[in-house]
Amino acid sequence: MLKEGDIVRIVEVAQRQPKSWIVTLVRDGELSTHLGKIFHNECIGRRYGDQLKKEKKVFILLKPSVRDFLRHFRLKTQILYADDCAIACNLAGLSSGMRVGEAGTGSGALTLFLAHNVHPTGQVFSFDINADYIANAQKNLAITGLSDCITFKLQDIRAPLEVRELDAFFLDFSSPYEAIDNIAPSLKSSGHLICFVPNWGQVEETVAQIRKSPYFFHVDTFEITRRNFTVNPERHIMRPVFRDLVYSGILIHAIRINPNQ
Ligand SMILES: C[S@@+](CC[C@H](N)C(=O)[O-])C[C@H]1O[C@@H](n2cnc3c(N)ncnc32)[C@H](O)[C@@H]1O
Repeated sequence: MLKEGDIVRIVEVAQRQPKSWIVTLVRDGELSTHLGKIFHNECIGRRYGDQLKKEKKVFILLKPSVRDFLRHFRLKTQILYADDCAIACNLAGLSSGMRVGEAGTGSGALTLFLAHNVHPTGQVFSFDINADYIANAQKNLAITGLSDCITFKLQDIRAPLEVRELDAFFLDFSSPYEAIDNIAPSLKSSGHLICFVPNWGQVEETVAQIRKSPYFFHVDTFEITRRNFTVNPERHIMRPVFRDLVYSGILIHAIRINPNQ
């Protein structure tokens, strides 16, 4: 049963582009939408998956997934898309209790996935040089219930870092090659380094820097592609959508090794 403090994604599905809102339920709370008000008391006592009928509109009450939270983020920077975030976490073998670092924080999209994977006992150390971006990411992440396992640091990732014994480090900014030697002491031996860059010149420089470094072993470099489909069985339509995101960027994976003695 839904109760005060539960987080609900309220979806209005009748529209061509389903519209949704994420709220934390509070007694006597209300959500104002362009379709009218939804009173939290109408949701409390129902279950996830229930349909709420209001006049001619039907709202579905859902438990938000990590991707749903991301869809509701306020974006102030380019972000890492959900598919790239998921694969990045998988490359590093993230699990609950791990300690990971990232730069930059940006809008907190990757931070969300990292925290989702390492909570409740792990920790994410998220670095950025822009205080406004950190503040916005903190706001974005506040409703997810994951804030306790994230430490934000206003710091250039190329400056000496205090954090140690990390299981993985994720670099998503324009010049990851400038930070590779700097983050090496923060990573455990056999820890993972994942870099994301959109431009191929950055890929070349980053891989060159990794291969030069005595602290890293370059595993692979690849792109994730996704093709969305329009499916309408009633009209026998099934085809790739006409307009789609065709490119996001390149992932580079390396592993921290001990230099030859
Ligand atoms: C593309 S955005 C990161 C997006 C983020 N991964 C997300 O998914 O929302 C790049 C971020 O790196 C930050 N940045 C740039 N240079 C940096 C540096 N030297 N140290 C730390 N952060 C840096 C920028 O301020 C910006 O917020």
